Amino acid sequence: MTIIKAVRGTRDLLPPETALWNRIEATARSVFARYNFGEIRTPVFEDTGLFARGVGEETDIISKEMYTWEDRARAQSEKTQSLTLRPENTAGVVRAYIEHGLGESGLLQKLYYIGPQFRRERPQKGRYRQFSQIGAEVIGPPSAGSESPLRDAEVLEMLATLLDELGITGWTLELNSVGSAADRARYNEVLRAALVPVAGQMCADCQRRAVTNPLRVLDCKVASDQPIIETLPKIVDSLDDASKAHFAQVLAALDAAQVPYTRNDRLVRGLDYYTRTTFEFTHGGLGAQNALLGGGRYDGLSDAIGGPRAPGIGFAMGEDRLVLTLQALETAAQTIKADAFIAPIGEGLNPAALALAHELRRAGLRIELGEGSFRLKKSFEAADKTARAIVILGEDELESGILTVKNFSTGMQTKVPRAELAVVLKGPSE
Ligand code: HAM
Repeated sequence: MTIIKAVRGTRDLLPPETALWNRIEATARSVFARYNFGEIRTPVFEDTGLFARGVGEETDIISKEMYTWEDRARAQSEKTQSLTLRPENTAGVVRAYIEHGLGESGLLQKLYYIGPQFRRERPQKGRYRQFSQIGAEVIGPPSAGSESPLRDAEVLEMLATLLDELGITGWTLELNSVGSAADRARYNEVLRAALVPVAGQMCADCQRRAVTNPLRVLDCKVASDQPIIETLPKIVDSLDDASKAHFAQVLAALDAAQVPYTRNDRLVRGLDYYTRTTFEFTHGGLGAQNALLGGGRYDGLSDAIGGPRAPGIGFAMGEDRLVLTLQALETAAQTIKADAFIAPIGEGLNPAALALAHELRRAGLRIELGEGSFRLKKSFEAADKTARAIVILGEDELESGILTVKNFSTGMQTKVPRAELAVVLKGPSE
């Protein structure tokens, strides 16, 4: 029979790696709490129209990468509906913001999320078809200050803090402004005109983009196109005064908070909802897929999906890529060992061993429970691999209440009264 495997581009996450995932999520939650963000959980699938209108029909994500299906009607009264596994979470958050009237409070909404996203991309290291994002959005009516450059700088400063607390060193923050919707439209036309004489010398994708969505030419990675791209007009020259001033204020606040950044004129990002500030944090250790996270401002997204005016800014970090980066930085993956392995001598002592394990686990210890049918040598071998110490439980120990404990790091074997066992096993450090 053929073996059924996980689908291409999806992965099982196993211990000990899952401990790293949990640590990353716990650190993110603790940082978000300090910046007064609350958690939002939106559905994993949505109406396809949300992404088409929100993210933009001409983007790669929408045109090539979505998992979309026609959901059959179950009853006569129901209609067939086109549904899509979410390729990103910002559109879902903004839909929820509109649906629940969150803007009516007049306050900024600061929401974070952690969860799976789905894109049918070509899988490679750091790029999967199911991947996890940790993201956050700050959104609200303009009267709540949602357009302020301070919000952009605060989000970026929070990200610098989060990466530092995760232990990710050596990141680079790249920053740009793509201006207002009007600036972008103007720039697209400037670019379209500039591309007419040169597009013929560029790659096939760029020739198509030059007509359909000129901005995307700036994302091209083909080496021979780079000298041509370098000569194209820069978006900064198409920004109006208000967008220029907004960007200058973001940079000034970052300077004040001592967040280091590099300006990148070509950072336009692959989603159509961006306005003004766009950014990415990259890490050299990741190879081709070097974006740890990306984000930016989306002042028109709520309007685009039928909501009230609600400017916002946010980001999403690729959790899979955070894990890869940390694994590369932390030389050896640390396997967490149990505090003790309990080795009953003979099957008859299995119930007593379970009772002892129960007692120690209640006392807060991490315990691996052995098996009485094992020879002592086998118990020792298993214990050495999984725990810092072995506790031997034979008839004598059970009767006397004095247990034999061997600590693997010191090599010492001692007799310990049952009442003192938990304290001894926890060790002096705790
Ligand atoms: P994005 O740049 O499409 O932005 O994705 C954000 C991050 O998700 C990327 O920088 C990368 O780390 C990770 N990522 C994307 N695709 C994959 C993949 N196939 N496999 C592994 N990781 C991946 C967004 O999704 C926006 N919603 C971010 C945002 C929030 N903008 C404003 N608010």
